[in-house]
Amino acid sequence: MRKLGVAVIGTGQWGKNHARVYKELPSTELVAICDVNAERAQAIAEQHGVKAYSDSTKMFKDKSIEAVNVCTWSTILFKEAQKALNAGKHVLVEKPMATTPQQARKLVQIAEENGLHLTVGFLMRFIPGLQQIRQSVMDKEIGELVCATAKRVSQWPERIGDVGVVKDTAIHDIDVMNYLYGEQPTSVYATMGSMRIKKFEDYAQMMLTYKDGRTAFIESNWLTPYKTRTLTVTGSEAIVRLDYITQDLSIEQKTETVQPRTTFKEPLKAELQHFVDCIVEKKKPLVTGEDGVKALEVATAAIASSAKKKAIQLKN
Ligand SMILES: NC(=O)c1ccc[n+]([C@@H]2O[C@H](COP(=O)([O-])OP(=O)(O)OC[C@H]3O[C@@H](n4cnc5c(N)ncnc54)[C@H](O)[C@@H]3O)[C@@H](O)[C@H]2O)c1
Repeated sequence: MRKLGVAVIGTGQWGKNHARVYKELPSTELVAICDVNAERAQAIAEQHGVKAYSDSTKMFKDKSIEAVNVCTWSTILFKEAQKALNAGKHVLVEKPMATTPQQARKLVQIAEENGLHLTVGFLMRFIPGLQQIRQSVMDKEIGELVCATAKRVSQWPERIGDVGVVKDTAIHDIDVMNYLYGEQPTSVYATMGSMRIKKFEDYAQMMLTYKDGRTAFIESNWLTPYKTRTLTVTGSEAIVRLDYITQDLSIEQKTETVQPRTTFKEPLKAELQHFVDCIVEKKKPLVTGEDGVKALEVATAAIASSAKKKAIQLKN
């Protein structure tokens, strides 16, 4: 079996998992890792027996590296993803993909012009229960989709100092809502504020309105002492609940509640395997670069809505 040569840029809390998973997948050859923290780069590289770099420009010269995962601080993602694409590498860029939707769109454009794969780290899509929910929405097993509510709350992960809770955390739920409704909202209304972290918002409530007035509500914060990550989808015939942490799914119908059994899968492993399969088999990824642009547009509109204290209309 041909192994795809891969590398990871940014091997902090999350990127080190990307490196570990690539080492575990039979279809990939982890060639190198890169982190501006040279000591960290060296330690992770030694752990996996691969080359360490602290400057990605040098690493990109290695032609055996075909795909790169960009897992740097959120405000550096665009710069490194752009460099990787310009060096001819396929790219998985972590969320929020870029700082502005314009930058995110630029990544999509460079990838398209160069025939490269570009995907965004929307990990929730790789949780089997979410796939089941999306299927039951599409097949109308829950009747008509009425509304969806997501809650993603926990304490502030202190290492995150360059974006607020909307672009870091709620963006997962924005993407999930767009995925369930199959489109971008037509308007966004949000309220948010900073209670503990002065530089960025650390709590946000947002309402997304889709075509025909159907809505999604997202609550996220970095103020809650325990971690909750849930999704409730209300249909005219049933209510579906997913706990992203346990991956438990339950479907409440008129007469009974069923709890379908799903095999627990490490979402990151499924995500990276899918990325590699898409490159090798030249398939469209489950999460496109365009999906990343749209989620970032909604996140940016939510921040503007809160500042202006009014709903922001979005072009679909
Ligand atoms: N999809 C998910 O579920 C998920 C989960 C966690 C984090 N993330 C995303 O992953 C990214 C990293 O998060 P984290 O928690 O690992 O942060 P972190 O601060 O622990 O790690 C970031 C690493 O990037 C390195 N870095 C910064 N600029 C660099 C550059 N130009 N070149 C090479 N290395 C560079 C830093 O030295 C650091 O080691 C963020 O964008 C975050 O949003 C996604």
